[in-house]
Parts: sequence; structure tokens; C-alpha cells
Amino acid sequence: MIDFHSHILPEIDDGSDSIETSLAMLRESRRQGVDLICATSHFYADEDDPASYLARRNHAYARLRAAMGDSKEYPEIRLGAEILYFPGISVAEEMRGLILERTPFLLVEPPMMPWSEEMLDEVELCGETLSCIPVIAHIDRYMRLLNDYTLFDRVKDRRLLIQVNASFFVHHDTRDFALECLREGRIHFMGSDCHNMGSRRPNMGHAAQVIRHAGEARIFSDFQERVYRVFGN
Ligand SMILES: [Fe+2]
Repeated sequence: MIDFHSHILPEIDDGSDSIETSLAMLRESRRQGVDLICATSHFYADEDDPASYLARRNHAYARLRAAMGDSKEYPEIRLGAEILYFPGISVAEEMRGLILERTPFLLVEPPMMPWSEEMLDEVELCGETLSCIPVIAHIDRYMRLLNDYTLFDRVKDRRLLIQVNASFFVHHDTRDFALECLREGRIHFMGSDCHNMGSRRPNMGHAAQVIRHAGEARIFSDFQERVYRVFGN
């Protein structure tokens, strides 16, 4: 599996708090069947600038790589970012540096408030102005926390891709809706959004289990195949 969204880099955001935690998260991800994981540490434009973010991210990655050595017990890592939406993102050229490496994908996290059409318009516009494919982060989180189940419909006809968290399938109250979205092809990527080995631990394997138990192994393997293809794996 490919985990599209994670906070596995050590000591860079509210995710992994140490090299040891990062290694444990990677091992656990691998054990659950993840062979590629995207490191999407938080980027907040109001308190950071892309150049210093990239320097910190690359330093955290170098430390982690050194600790991983040549071991095969870890998934491949691709470096990206989870960018909190800000007005002006579509004309912020330096956001190009935060595109997920060796892909066209830019992971954008909408703010936790009702979504405006202006916000969606601007995220969509990033595709043209920044030459990327914008991906909306964990749409299921907004549905649940804002209690708004119309969000999938609102992005349906837009040139945006959709990432959901594995917990969308794991939570009993959203499971049926998650399966329906998967069947209808409304989900483009799945991620654990794992932050630690406690309350927000890697859970891609758990979601995969739920999907297979629901009798959707075939649909899930087709989904995985599409994801591998766009990653060139
Ligand atoms: Fe995240």
C-alpha cells in the first residue's frame, strides 16, 4: 500500500517526537503492508517560510535515513508537505518546492471551518498557476468535525484530487459512507495521517482489513493499482 499522508519525520511538527518514534512508526507501517509512505509534515505560511521549512525537513530526513541504515524493514519514503490553505497560495510560486517529490501532487489542508467557494476556487487554481495537481487532505475529517456530509459533492466536478484518512474506514459511524465513496471512485488517495505510536498510530492495515471484510477486496486492489501507477511504482 501507499500511505499518502503521514507525520513520520522526527521533531519537525506535532508528529513524531524522536528518531525512535519515527523508526517505530515506519516499522509498524511496513508490518501493516505499507511499502511507500509520504512524509507530509505541516507547513504553515503564517509562521514559516518555504526555504527554512525545506532546510528543517531535509535535515530531519537525513537524520532519519542515517538511523534507518540499509535495513529492509522500512517503507520507501517520499518527501512532501501538508500545506495549510492560505489566501494567496495560488500565486505563491515557492509552494512549488513543497510538491510531493517525483509526483505532481500538492497536498493542501483546508482550514477547520466551513468551506467557502473562494477557497475551493483558489485551491483548484493552484493546478494551473503552480503546475501541480492539488490534493485536498483528509476530506473525511472535515465531514466529521464540521458535520457536513456534502463536501464530497462540492468537490466532485472540480479539478482536485481527494485524500481520505484510513480512520474514515475504521470509525464505525463513517465506515459505510467510506465504502460507498470507495465504490463510487470518489477517493484518490488514502493516508494514515499518523503522528505517533499512541492515539494517532499507523492504521493503513486496519482500514484495508475493514475494506476486505466488507467484501471489497477487488475494488481495493484496483484502487491500489491506480495509486501505484501514478507513483510510477
Ligand atoms: Fe496531517
